[in-house]
Amino acid sequence: MSGSGGFPLVRPRRLRRTPAVRRLVAETRLHPADLILPLFVREGATEPVPISSMPGVVQHTRDTLRKAAHEAVSAGVGGLMLFGIPSAKDACGSAGTDPDGILQVALRDVAAEVGDDTVIMSDLCLDEFTDHGHCGVLREDGTVDNDATLDRYAEMAVVQAEAGAHMLGPSGMMDGQVAHVRRALDAAGHTDVSILAYSAKYASGFYGPFREAVESTLQGDRMSYQQDPANADESLREVLLDIAEGADMVMVKPAMSYLDIVRRIADEVHVPVAAYQVSGEYAMVEAAAANGWIDRDRVILETLTGIRRAGATSILTYWAAEVARKLR
Ligand code: PBG
Repeated sequence: MSGSGGFPLVRPRRLRRTPAVRRLVAETRLHPADLILPLFVREGATEPVPISSMPGVVQHTRDTLRKAAHEAVSAGVGGLMLFGIPSAKDACGSAGTDPDGILQVALRDVAAEVGDDTVIMSDLCLDEFTDHGHCGVLREDGTVDNDATLDRYAEMAVVQAEAGAHMLGPSGMMDGQVAHVRRALDAAGHTDVSILAYSAKYASGFYGPFREAVESTLQGDRMSYQQDPANADESLREVLLDIAEGADMVMVKPAMSYLDIVRRIADEVHVPVAAYQVSGEYAMVEAAAANGWIDRDRVILETLTGIRRAGATSILTYWAAEVARKLR
């Protein structure tokens, strides 16, 4: 459409002209409360241990974990997601159900430090605790035994809730895990502890650096329980099942290669949708930035904005505390 003399009558650029007008019309905003910080704590550590494939991220000691939790909460993050690394692993992941296991000890520490000022979450899965690195217990033939694993998850749920977790994140992709965990929590009197289900969790190469972070010894892969990156409908099926089983929130993981999944789920369901920007996504940006190939701060905000724009209400990101501080 041209006016007299050939001027465009409609000029979308008018709304991009100044920072003020761009701020006025921005459709997506990031807020510290949207961000959830994953934290690793290592049993027996006396110094924080750097994770080489995740520059800036460490395995915390109990003391530095408390400090990191305090700082993140002061910056206004919406939640903390805890992962424990036990000093001994075995076939059934005993440390995961030991009331004095590292994750439970850390939950009590963090609950004492930040109380109800944030949402304290814990990863509910066996892979950090098993010597074979799988997310469940194995049959004699080496395959993961779904139903025997459910009972282990139920036990984990109760000890995590008792240690002070407000929200549990079952992440093992076993069939029926949300219902099983919900029933166990309710039977133990923890009806107010909520479930953030890792519902659409893909078998992804982007979890690479996480394996170093939790010292996983995994042989083989997780293709028989995590989803095939080729599939989208399957995510919706998993999400609807988890909601029917009592999930309070659902999650898509990883984030950036699965933004179409985030969008579809956000359009279809009426529970909050989280997305996990995983270790490999973090590592790629840090590595490229360290080489001077991208503008680190700009790219971090762009990735988070993209995930929010796709429809995620919350984002788990290793940059949560840093970004929350900058947003304030
Ligand atoms: C399972 C779990 C994993 C991650 C979070 N929870 C690993 C896996 O499923 O293989 C990965 C997180 C990341 O890569 O940042 N306990």
